[in-house]
Amino acid sequence: MTFFVCSNCGYGSASWMGKCPDCGKWNTLVEKPEFAKTSSSKATKKIKITKLKTVASSYKIRFKTGIFEIDRVIGGGFIPGEVVLLTGEPGVGKSTLILQSLQNIPSLYISGEESAEQVKVRADRLKINLDNFYFSNDTQVEGIIAGLENLSEEIKIVVIDSIQTIFSKDIEGPIAGISQLKEVANKLISFAKKNKITVILIGHITKVGEIAGPKTLEHLVDCVLNFEGEKISQYRLLRASKNRFGSTDEIGIFEMSGGGLKEVTNPLVFLEQKNQYEPGKAIVGVTEGKRPLFFEIQTLVSSTVFAVPRRVVKGLDYNKTLLLIAVVKKYLYLPLDSYDIYVNVIGGVSIKSTSSDLGFIASLLSSFKNIPLPKSSLFIGEVGLLGEVRASYFEDKIVSEGKRLGFKKIFSSLNVKNIKDLKILLR
Ligand code: TYD
Ligand code: MG
Repeated sequence: MTFFVCSNCGYGSASWMGKCPDCGKWNTLVEKPEFAKTSSSKATKKIKITKLKTVASSYKIRFKTGIFEIDRVIGGGFIPGEVVLLTGEPGVGKSTLILQSLQNIPSLYISGEESAEQVKVRADRLKINLDNFYFSNDTQVEGIIAGLENLSEEIKIVVIDSIQTIFSKDIEGPIAGISQLKEVANKLISFAKKNKITVILIGHITKVGEIAGPKTLEHLVDCVLNFEGEKISQYRLLRASKNRFGSTDEIGIFEMSGGGLKEVTNPLVFLEQKNQYEPGKAIVGVTEGKRPLFFEIQTLVSSTVFAVPRRVVKGLDYNKTLLLIAVVKKYLYLPLDSYDIYVNVIGGVSIKSTSSDLGFIASLLSSFKNIPLPKSSLFIGEVGLLGEVRASYFEDKIVSEGKRLGFKKIFSSLNVKNIKDLKILLR
């Protein structure tokens, strides 16, 4: 009996079909002999157990990059054998970040996207110390692993830029197709674990995380780093969305300049005009990881010409924003169904913390009433479905940092119990 397998996504079927019902691609089903069970998988294999306490751990070793903003996000440094997936939109600065961060660690940089000369020219421009860097343009995963296993140079980290350009000779699907990506990733992961070499896989994603590729690898790797930012803005955020060897709530902030990425430590970096308050603008204090940061939220409320009013949200969670709009509508009796609402966070960054809820509502009211919020005001607090204001994570720390940085009127769960209390600001 024969079996048909989709060469793009690996979907299996007993009969041939023109279109794969799983990934929707045409003409990708190819005939395969039925998967025969090998004799070894038929035999009973007794499980082997180990006392956890006696397991030797190599996780005490960390390869520090020396760039504080990166080391903080990854939990202190890369671990031998760790597999890291670094994702971001094309052009955001992933290759630059990697070149800058690995100068002190013996590394092999495998690029399917740029030639040795291109990488060298860029590294020279960024004044990167190349003593520890090796380079290869080869893109066949079996060849890469065979080469690495017989290498005389000592390599601690292997970078694959990008995983979408590497292929396996054992899989027939197209390069960057899901079955290729999985095979390549699985081979590199077992290589990393066996040889205790850190592997960094770079993966491109589109704005909405559209290309399914890197997403499907997230559960296979130890750490997923997302490098975010708009190309029009110079700021970039590095965030871990998964980290088996560290926490996931730290962020690293960088500025892209002519000389590459620079670390940013100023918590007010995202506020362009700190002292100018116009209708619709609110400054919020949040913590990303353990660090207080301050962002400007702008909201524009304008009467709608549509049957269903428009809601456009950039930089905040879309569903949470809709929820807060509904809370405002209900408890402050505002006819928001007749208004379009546009929300933006300045700097092209997105806020993950819920401490921005109160500030978003303040900016919404301010635009609706067309009255600016008080000068030097700062908003900190999570808002619930009943309109109540809840203390946010590390509230006292944000408040004291806000005071230190010169905010005079700080609104938080300490003095605002319900969003109804905000009304007096805008009389
Ligand atoms: P790159 O690291 O190649 O992005 P990725 O690997 O994520 O595709 O960076 C590309 C962009 O960064 C490019 O558009 C130019 C900009 N850039 C600078 O502004 N300054 C610099 O010093 C470098 C190296 C790049
Ligand atoms: Mg690149």
